[in-house]
Amino acid sequence: MALAKIRVVAAGATGKTGSAVTQALLGEDDIQVVAAVARRSAGSDLGQALGTGFLGIPVSDNLDAVLAEHQPDVLVDFTAPHVAGPHALAAVTRGVRPVVGTTGIPAEQIQRLEQECARRGLGAAVIPNFSFGIMLLAEFILRAAEVFPNLEIIEKHHQTKVDAPSGTALRLAQRLAERGHHNVPVHSVRLPGFVAHHEVIFGGTGESLTIRHDSISRASFGPGVVLAVRRVMEIDRVVYDLADLLS
Ligand SMILES: NC(=O)c1ccc[n+]([C@@H]2O[C@H](COP(=O)([O-])OP(=O)(O)OC[C@H]3O[C@@H](n4cnc5c(N)ncnc54)[C@H](OP(=O)(O)O)[C@@H]3O)[C@@H](O)[C@H]2O)c1
Repeated sequence: MALAKIRVVAAGATGKTGSAVTQALLGEDDIQVVAAVARRSAGSDLGQALGTGFLGIPVSDNLDAVLAEHQPDVLVDFTAPHVAGPHALAAVTRGVRPVVGTTGIPAEQIQRLEQECARRGLGAAVIPNFSFGIMLLAEFILRAAEVFPNLEIIEKHHQTKVDAPSGTALRLAQRLAERGHHNVPVHSVRLPGFVAHHEVIFGGTGESLTIRHDSISRASFGPGVVLAVRRVMEIDRVVYDLADLLS
């Protein structure tokens, strides 16, 4: 007997990142994208909106209606900071597990999400960077900071990114703070030509060490989101790092 597929609603599926991530989800046999949410292509077919040909996946601008109609297992969200928090809460209220890539969500909304997930015993993943390279960079910089406590973070993104510093840089700074490295300076660059780039520079005596990661394509976020969609079905808390889904 075939195993049931994980039913996914993809919010922001027509955006720069959402379209790359949705293509990755569409390529997996155990995952079924049942509907998409966006504003401009609402009423059309997702495949037509993405330019890949008809897929039979409707696009709607009403997340609540989509959740009620399709009863998915997981909501994947790559929308905008003011949208993703309410989206995730609406999902959890309906028993749907959120996998949120959107960054810049206000802290009080994350806190509410944690409370709702705890109350309902539901898992969620709110992960500012789904690339495996950033997961490794986080490990490496925590080790390097033990030897070189003087460090700064530089993040570079395309000029249309709305939040600064990046959610990834803030998460790295938070993890460093948890290890006693407080108030690490973060520098943000917004210029055409960049996708998502993070580097951490350590200054020592007569030497410096740089640990750097470059997302040169938004395809870099797909495999991590696929992993999160599968693993979020098995957890009952909110996780903030891809590494937490591998352990
Ligand atoms: N976690 C990660 O690994 C990762 C990686 C890259 C980016 N991100 C984050 O992902 C988010 C999206 O970035 P992006 O560059 O892909 O943005 P984008 O190109 O502007 O795409 C945003 C998507 O969300 C939809 N959307 C926006 N407001 C909406 C609303 N009120 N209701 C329904 N749909 C709405 C847009 O559709 P319409 O235009 O039709 O409304 C579009 O499909 C950002 O927060 C970014 O920082 C995360």
